[in-house]
Amino acid sequence: MTPLPRHLLPLTAAIDEQTGRLRIGGLDLLDLAAEYGTPLFVYDEEHLRQRCREARQVWGDGVAYASKAFLCKAMATLAYEEGLHVDVSTGGELHVALSAGVPGERLVLHGNNKSESELQAAIEAGVGRIVVDSFDEIDRLERLGHRDQKLLIRVTPGVAAHTHEYVMTGQDDSKFGFGLASGQAAQAVERLRPGKPGEAGKAGTLVGVHAHIGSQIFLLHSFVKEVEALAEFFTALELPELCVGGGLGVAYVEGEESPPMEQWSATVKRACHDHGIPTGTRITAEPGRTIAAAAAITLYTVGTIKDLPGIRTYVSVDGGMSDNPRPVLYGSGYEAFLPRAANAERPRAATIVGKHCESGDVIVRDARLPIDLAVGDILATPVTGAYGHSMASNYNKVPRPAVVFVQDGEARVVVRRETLDDLLRNDL
Ligand SMILES: Cc1ncc(COP(=O)(O)O)c(C=O)c1O
Repeated sequence: MTPLPRHLLPLTAAIDEQTGRLRIGGLDLLDLAAEYGTPLFVYDEEHLRQRCREARQVWGDGVAYASKAFLCKAMATLAYEEGLHVDVSTGGELHVALSAGVPGERLVLHGNNKSESELQAAIEAGVGRIVVDSFDEIDRLERLGHRDQKLLIRVTPGVAAHTHEYVMTGQDDSKFGFGLASGQAAQAVERLRPGKPGEAGKAGTLVGVHAHIGSQIFLLHSFVKEVEALAEFFTALELPELCVGGGLGVAYVEGEESPPMEQWSATVKRACHDHGIPTGTRITAEPGRTIAAAAAITLYTVGTIKDLPGIRTYVSVDGGMSDNPRPVLYGSGYEAFLPRAANAERPRAATIVGKHCESGDVIVRDARLPIDLAVGDILATPVTGAYGHSMASNYNKVPRPAVVFVQDGEARVVVRRETLDDLLRNDL
């Protein structure tokens, strides 16, 4: 019934007292929809910048933005300008970050199946760190033979974080990293560093340990468990760097609260201290979602409203699982509201669906909406800045939406809307 909770909106969101309309970055959302069309991702640039600054402040130098959450040239530039490193997990993400002008040494390369050419491209670009994930990758790095290349070893700490199974990565049964419990992490270290700490091996120079236990984690205690599991192994290696990955949870719906980033870093650092990790260790993290998610909202146009008496009402919009696959992939929940009446009560129950040929193409199951919702309305879903555009597809040959950054009354298109001709671009 209640209006949309304010804390789910981007930082500069403001409701015009007279009209009830929502502005972000000083711009009216209905004007943005009219000018750029829908579906449209609207990012509050100030929100993105402030979250990056906060990350840099609480973690210090070395903290990286996990670009898989949302990446385009403008985003890579913004993260770099705000003092973050950028984590890339494929040759494609590497290419975008480099094309944006992020210097190689500010990049961290991840991936559980990096090809030799991806490794080669990363080394040629002078990436700051390669996070080694498998024995086969060690073979490849040894073949490439760049002993100066700084490496982190990705360790699976055997911690099952409280989150969706598909975004859990720290448990023993994982495709990522080297298991601690199985002894594979220790074997990998022997290959990566046959000599003393700091001495290069054939694959490169091991400078630290990396772990990532999953995404959308609300219980900070999961990170304490992670540190607890890694501490003995890490300390024995006498390495200068420990990265605890990303994964801080973000509020998507009414009733959820995100843990503050500052509390996350303080909890990790206290746990490191408590478990004997030497002072002076560079302790870093790789937040993605917590930087980008709440910075954006998606605007859609309502196309049809279908009442099924005694069953439910379906509200169909002009996007769907191709611009936000999270509900289909993980059963994720979202809120919805009307930017023309952002403070309105939402007594009307409806399920918001996309335009794809799938019954599962749901954006918000059992949404609450204002009573006067009508065809032609601009409908918004907040907290769509992470794993929305970055996971977008052309399913059903639906062109991907445009992305605009708004700030101080100005809008700039940072990713243009795909055209129908773009859909034919690769056909021969
Ligand atoms: C290695 C690594 N680091 C960081 C992240 C970012 O996680 P989040 O967006 O939840 O902060 C991920 C996400 O999957 C990841 O795999």
